[in-house]
Amino acid sequence: MIQIFLTGLCFLLLRPTCCSGSRILVVPVDGSHWINMELILQELHSRGHDITVLRSAKSWYIPSTSSIYTSINVTMLEDESNRNFYDKMIQDVVECRRSLPFISMFCQPQVLTSMLDKGHEILARAAATMLDDPVFMKKLQDAKFDLMLTDPALTLGVILGSYLKLTMVFNVRWINNGEAHFTIAPSPVSYVPVSGSELHDQMDFLDRTKNMLHYIYSFVEQHFIINPSYSDLLRRHFPPGTDLLSLERAADIWLVRTDFVFEFPRPTMPNVVYIGGFQCKQSRPLPADLEAFMQSSGEHGVVVMSLGTLVSALHREATEAIAAAFAQLPQKVVWRFAGEKPSSLGNNTLLVNWMPQKDLLGHPKTQCYAVPLNRL
Ligand SMILES: *[C@@H]1O[C@H](CO)[C@@H](O)[C@H](O)[C@H]1NC(C)=O
Ligand SMILES: *[C@@H]1O[C@H](CO)[C@@H](O)[C@H](O)[C@H]1NC(C)=O
Repeated sequence: MIQIFLTGLCFLLLRPTCCSGSRILVVPVDGSHWINMELILQELHSRGHDITVLRSAKSWYIPSTSSIYTSINVTMLEDESNRNFYDKMIQDVVECRRSLPFISMFCQPQVLTSMLDKGHEILARAAATMLDDPVFMKKLQDAKFDLMLTDPALTLGVILGSYLKLTMVFNVRWINNGEAHFTIAPSPVSYVPVSGSELHDQMDFLDRTKNMLHYIYSFVEQHFIINPSYSDLLRRHFPPGTDLLSLERAADIWLVRTDFVFEFPRPTMPNVVYIGGFQCKQSRPLPADLEAFMQSSGEHGVVVMSLGTLVSALHREATEAIAAAFAQLPQKVVWRFAGEKPSSLGNNTLLVNWMPQKDLLGHPKTQCYAVPLNRL
């Protein structure tokens, strides 16, 4: 009895006295990506972890002061690009889609590739600014972080976390030029449609050929456009043979923002954790004017239309056409829209600068959620 008591006492005395949280370095992506990252940070903070966020001094959404993290201003993509960057790209893509099918097939990827090229050049310069600054890097090293949490849609966190040799956790959906699985898991082109191919998992011979061409295109883009942007930086700071892909594939955990309910069957990896829908909350009542509009839709209900946070401008003709099409619907429409009011707007369509999207989507009168272009 005494022995058991003494053993128990020893356990109690030898137990680490403090179970303090980890020190987490976070490199988020601005815009809509920040919304879900912030939710994860709130949860980590409530569990006692110490959080440091790297952000641009010109950040659009990420506050410099917060009760849940401390921030450090660094050079990021936002310093050399702005929202017009995305609007311009959308306009170029729409322009492509309006051309003859054969031309459009090459034109659109070319617009996106040139945007990727420009973006990665900027990111590589931003990463070099950090890694080449011994004072800044010493500061990060002395902070003795335990973990890097990053959204690898932009590469700064991947490079920085690898350089600091931190355990790396991705909060991810898009990476490089496609969906996360294409980087981490085998993706047989016979039944896994490549991102952007607009194909199904049931493919006939022609579809598979098309999928193969998409695969080759994205392979070339990865190895001849994206990777080379970083080759000089990686050569100077990492062991020979390191490329961006090898750093990404070395990440420890991939928190993937999707759910297999919405996916075609495909191979995955054991370090992939599906967190799709983790940010969902019950909808709350709408403001009175919006509620009145919803109720006025009667039996037909409401269509909700939004293009996400980064896209405000569509081609003038496109907005006119969309407005005219909406005007013909028996439903009412709530459209998140910034810009000049289309002349073809019907009296069933309400333009709003901002919408309580979650509450609208959860409203019983909402019939349809329209997202005409892939969200970035
Ligand atoms: C970081 O940037 C914000 C503006 O986004 C500025 O208010 C703040 O003073 C900057 N912090 C430092 C330490 O320079
Ligand atoms: C809305 O427009 C339609 C067709 O243009 C018209 O029939 C209807 O009376 C209008 N409703 C209101 C409330 O103005």
